[in-house]
Amino acid sequence: MVAHSSDLVCIQEVGMRDGLQSAGQFVTTEDKVRLIDQLSKTGLSKIEVTSFVSPKAVPLLADAEEVLAAINRQPSVTYSALIPNRRGLDRALAVELDEVNLVMSVSEAHNLANLRMTCEQSIEQFREICNNRGSLRVNGTLATAFGCPFHGEVTQSTVFEWAHRYLDAGIDSLTLADTIGAATPRQVYDLCSGFTEAFPSIEITLHLHNTRGLGIANALSGIAAGIRHLDASIGGIGGCPYAPGATGNVCTEDLVHALIFDGYRCEVDLEQLLSVSHELGDLLSDPLPGLVRYAGSKLTKHSMSEDLRRRLGLIEE
Ligand code: COA
Ligand code: ZN
Repeated sequence: MVAHSSDLVCIQEVGMRDGLQSAGQFVTTEDKVRLIDQLSKTGLSKIEVTSFVSPKAVPLLADAEEVLAAINRQPSVTYSALIPNRRGLDRALAVELDEVNLVMSVSEAHNLANLRMTCEQSIEQFREICNNRGSLRVNGTLATAFGCPFHGEVTQSTVFEWAHRYLDAGIDSLTLADTIGAATPRQVYDLCSGFTEAFPSIEITLHLHNTRGLGIANALSGIAAGIRHLDASIGGIGGCPYAPGATGNVCTEDLVHALIFDGYRCEVDLEQLLSVSHELGDLLSDPLPGLVRYAGSKLTKHSMSEDLRRRLGLIEE
């Protein structure tokens, strides 16, 4: 199948932030830097390297400054870090970084649980952050855009309302996040096509979790609705520590495998991704949820055992 230029999908790695923030063990700064440097060479368009949040809230990413000081940057990659507040911006401005990723939930209950702020208080800080960003690009993430662990359903009009507030505050691009893996393909199609129509000149990213097994189906549905930027995490690690039951992101290598074999272009090297995924698997004690890392690419050929070939008469006695 020949891919067309409109079939180009940008893959943005979030495993080093969304994954390692809840990994169940501290991955050393040295190991983080090595993994990021390898990911930088795979063709990914963006890497969310870490977050500048309170180390008390997320101790596993307490080494954010050290990681950013040690990585080897590739010019083709946008390096991003998540920030929740003004203090996060001050830390981001003190290091070498291309973008900050602001985060707030469209659900008041989850925003309070995750960030100890009301949605209004978050937007107030974001306005100040946008006004003081220096040369940093600013992305705004709307968490719980497809469902909230405390409140349940989230309406489309709520998501649109906060998107407009974010854009008014001065962000450059927007992410719709399914923090708890509640989305279904039709829901993704409806919201994403609404967004691509309403905001044709704004880059929109889809950030999905595979909590209920719909991650890849939802990604394909978002692409069908015009989305061309997708977050994913190597090995499928991930989960918000402040969202009960939230598990891993859609897995980078599984997503790339699905896109390549479904005729899209994503300019990411699957073999190199698999090698980073295996290296990460060796570091973490829990098994990684990704699937292609176990099954291999669909073109993997297996050889028949000698015994079977003999029984089938394929080997002459
Ligand atoms: N980076 C580092 N430290 C920060 C910080 C930041 N961006 N923002 C606040 N802090 C520190 C304060 O200095 C203070 O430190 P102290 O106790 O030593 O004085 C402490 O954190 C509490 O500050 P406060 O402003 O009262 O924050 P809070 O307790 O109300 O928590 C957040 C608010 C946003 C800082 C915290 O909830 C947080 O970091 N959440 C992020 C959660 C997350 O990353 N979730 C997953 C990603 S979506
Ligand atoms: Zn997430």
